[in-house]
Amino acid sequence: MPAILTFPRPSVSAVIDKQRYAERRQRFLEQLGGAAAVIPAASLVTHHADCEWPFRQDSDFWYLTGFDEPDAVALLLPHRPEGERFVLFVHPREAGAEVWTGRRWGCEGAVEHFGAQIAHPRDELEERLPEYLKGAEGIAFRVGRHAAVEPLVLRAWADQLDRAPRSGAAALGLVAPCPLLHRLRLRKEPQELERLREACRISAEAHELARAAVAPGMGERQLQALIEQHFLAAGARGPAYSSIVAGGDNACVLHYIANSDVLQDGDLLLIDAGCSLPDYYNGDITRSFPINGRFTGEQRALYELVLAAQERAIEAVRPGVSAEHVHQTALQVLVEGLLELGLLVGEADAIIEQGAYRHLYMHRTGHWLGLDVHDVGAYRLGEHPVELEPGMVLTVEPGLYVSDRLPVPEGQPAIEECWKGIGIRIEDDVAVTAMGREVLTAAALKSTAAMER
Ligand code: GLY
Ligand code: MN
Ligand code: MN
Repeated sequence: MPAILTFPRPSVSAVIDKQRYAERRQRFLEQLGGAAAVIPAASLVTHHADCEWPFRQDSDFWYLTGFDEPDAVALLLPHRPEGERFVLFVHPREAGAEVWTGRRWGCEGAVEHFGAQIAHPRDELEERLPEYLKGAEGIAFRVGRHAAVEPLVLRAWADQLDRAPRSGAAALGLVAPCPLLHRLRLRKEPQELERLREACRISAEAHELARAAVAPGMGERQLQALIEQHFLAAGARGPAYSSIVAGGDNACVLHYIANSDVLQDGDLLLIDAGCSLPDYYNGDITRSFPINGRFTGEQRALYELVLAAQERAIEAVRPGVSAEHVHQTALQVLVEGLLELGLLVGEADAIIEQGAYRHLYMHRTGHWLGLDVHDVGAYRLGEHPVELEPGMVLTVEPGLYVSDRLPVPEGQPAIEECWKGIGIRIEDDVAVTAMGREVLTAAALKSTAAMER
């Protein structure tokens, strides 16, 4: 059993399983060849004046270290078989700072609890980095993301290049660590799947609570509060992304996060909300249902169509197919259904080819899910779509959004008033298994009957 260590900093706790992180680093080190990796942690981000947002660790850094403090830097050094291969630079213990912002692990804790072979104060990175990079064939560092660390890496490399005629060695180039690291992150370990199940379980409970509570006259934000209260009470860190609680036509705005309207009798409500666990695994669920408990004819027709598209797309998830295939499966069902309802005219294949459905369905059907909500990992490698494999996790989230915000494509019918203001999305989180799939969010009901009361 891993030890559960609670940090005194409020809302931050971590299950530190040193062995798991050590195995990940070993896999990454093997892939680096002779390149030394510099992987920075996130920094605190200002909200306004001198107030900061709650700290959110960088997911790559977290994946390799499990260390939840700002401004740290991890070095992975495969070119030093005899020396330290995992070095951390961290904020050192300092009573004067900790009395304001909470306990730090410091250099001692970084070694004892996080498996660093040696740890140094963060202030010493500039001075020590050149020595650690000496002898590496390349430097694996993500440019453009880490403003405080990038100049130090470039300067260390530039100095190596300046000295190369005499020293006889310098790194040959800067390489991106992301393709290697994100290939690892894309295939979830069994323990990661457990954590995603937990995030999905809490997220699904929140959706069930919200649907039970909803009534005309409530504020969107009241429901947001109920959902996010459950996340926190159930042990999550909070919402994984800004919760969307969108009554009526607000649901046709894909990233509606104002949540500032009053719910109207006769409208649908779309809720897109999921929690993030203390170790950053996320749920991402959308449900849409009538605020007064009964669908109108038009609402029901569109709900059943989106549900059919989503169920067919989920059934399409299995090893060997691509995320593109899952998207195309949903799209085919949606377009054929819209033709039957008269919201589109023509031939399904031609409509899909021309994109003449995009005024009603303007996003893709899903994304990878993991430590990031829109998780890392390629969807295509050159010409080839990435094939689904057991351990990959993706969302399946088709929708329809009927409003007059976008122009109706030439040749397609004008939208009758009775359809307008209906926005529906149904989103589940699905793990690919050897036999097909596991719907991690099945506890959030979605049948037409369950959406009514
Ligand atoms: N909640 C973000 C998304 O569904 O992609
Ligand atoms: Mn999503
Ligand atoms: Mn979502």
